[in-house]
Amino acid sequence: MNIAAVDYDGLIPNNVGLGQDVRVKRALEKWHPGYINWWKDMGPEGFQESLVYLRTAVSVDPKGWAKFDYVRMPEYRWGVLLAPQHEGRKVPFGTHKGEEAWQEVPGEYRAMLRRLVVIQGDTEPASVEQQRHLGKTAPSLYDMRNLFQVNVEEGRHLWAMVYLLQKYFGTDGREEAEALLERRSGDPDTPRMLGAFNEKTPDWLSFFMFTYFTDRDGKMQLEALAQSGFDPLSRTCRFMLTEEAHHMFVGETGVTRVIQRTCEAMKQAGIDDPYDIARVRKLGVIDLPTIQKKANLHFSLTLDLFGNEISTNAANAFHAGLKGRFREDRLEDDHQLESGTYPVLRLIDGKIQNEDSPALSALNMRLRDDYVVDCNIGVGRWNKVIADLGIPFEIKLPHVAFHRHIGEFSRTNVDVDGNILSPAEWTERRTAYLPSESDKDFIESLMQPQFEPAKFASWIAPPKVGIDNKPGDFEYVKIADA
Ligand SMILES: [Fe+2]
Ligand SMILES: [Fe+2]
Repeated sequence: MNIAAVDYDGLIPNNVGLGQDVRVKRALEKWHPGYINWWKDMGPEGFQESLVYLRTAVSVDPKGWAKFDYVRMPEYRWGVLLAPQHEGRKVPFGTHKGEEAWQEVPGEYRAMLRRLVVIQGDTEPASVEQQRHLGKTAPSLYDMRNLFQVNVEEGRHLWAMVYLLQKYFGTDGREEAEALLERRSGDPDTPRMLGAFNEKTPDWLSFFMFTYFTDRDGKMQLEALAQSGFDPLSRTCRFMLTEEAHHMFVGETGVTRVIQRTCEAMKQAGIDDPYDIARVRKLGVIDLPTIQKKANLHFSLTLDLFGNEISTNAANAFHAGLKGRFREDRLEDDHQLESGTYPVLRLIDGKIQNEDSPALSALNMRLRDDYVVDCNIGVGRWNKVIADLGIPFEIKLPHVAFHRHIGEFSRTNVDVDGNILSPAEWTERRTAYLPSESDKDFIESLMQPQFEPAKFASWIAPPKVGIDNKPGDFEYVKIADA
């Protein structure tokens, strides 16, 4: 089988030989109408008849896997695509290190593996649900197209996880696949599984922050699962990562363009003081301190997705060879972690300090540390834009103990610099760190749609280059009359 070639003939494009796998093909075809119903109910609101210039995966060849064309979103070809199999791949870590990688689910780890797939799978439709109202306030057709690109690909990621459930987990896999279409982001009775995926994404700055910070958690989780000794999971996640890169690009460049527009407008108006918020806002742009607050919010919510700093589940999944570390294959140690320690940030005697913990228990902490390093790279680029435009301001990620709901610091009030606050101090200062109601109202007031090609809302700069090298006046979405 030529793994790079995708079979496009059937209902479900795939490179996993679905044509010869009648049982799984039928199961997925049965699941398909429910998925389309979910997409129509909970996917982008409006625009379902519009032609959107989208990329579709047509191959898994890293040199050219996507094709761009106008598509109506419900007709998007959601496919099941796995990265090529590496001949002779071994379990790369844990107690089975060096054994043949598993092509079938190892019986003893079945429940653990299913849970990992379900948790990953649940985040994919959740973000589509969170973003479903944003189309109608898009600041440009370019941005609207990027939103919908992210949305259809999150839909494809759900397909990727559902394929694994249907192919490898029998009846309970089928039930889990159904349940993935039943939970709803933010629903009090049937919420999505993880907290950050039940928060609202009410405006476009939130969307850019979400794709920068929260899709980057997605990247870290996928990187860790791409190391898995269960080969189909590894190959699935490896291909998802190629798509994920675009989501983070949308976030990073989105925030960059907001910052750039703000700084340019300030310069033009002769405002040097970034804290002269009232005057900056009068220019129809988002002041830098408010952008900082949004970053504080999304960064802290996303840190919660890494779970408890000390985790038996994480230790078990690593020990079993199911979920590795970030870039496990590039690390140089025994890949078993039976001995050795890792510094974990804890609250000890009322002080935030590092404590050495067994490395195996500290894997969530380690992945979170890798995440923070990765986050800071883009923040550096944001600050370069601010500095180049001569505004004295720097975006800083808050302390990891700030505004947490899970883990070591969930019961402590900590400010953005890592100082512990009393409950009264926290209440008093909260809106200095996190968006207040009036900040939210102001941002919302700016969310006016701009649907003319080549035009952009007041608060965001145009991108440097178009998608698929299209010119600035390209009509990324041909909006159908409702
Ligand atoms: Fe995803
Ligand atoms: Fe994503």
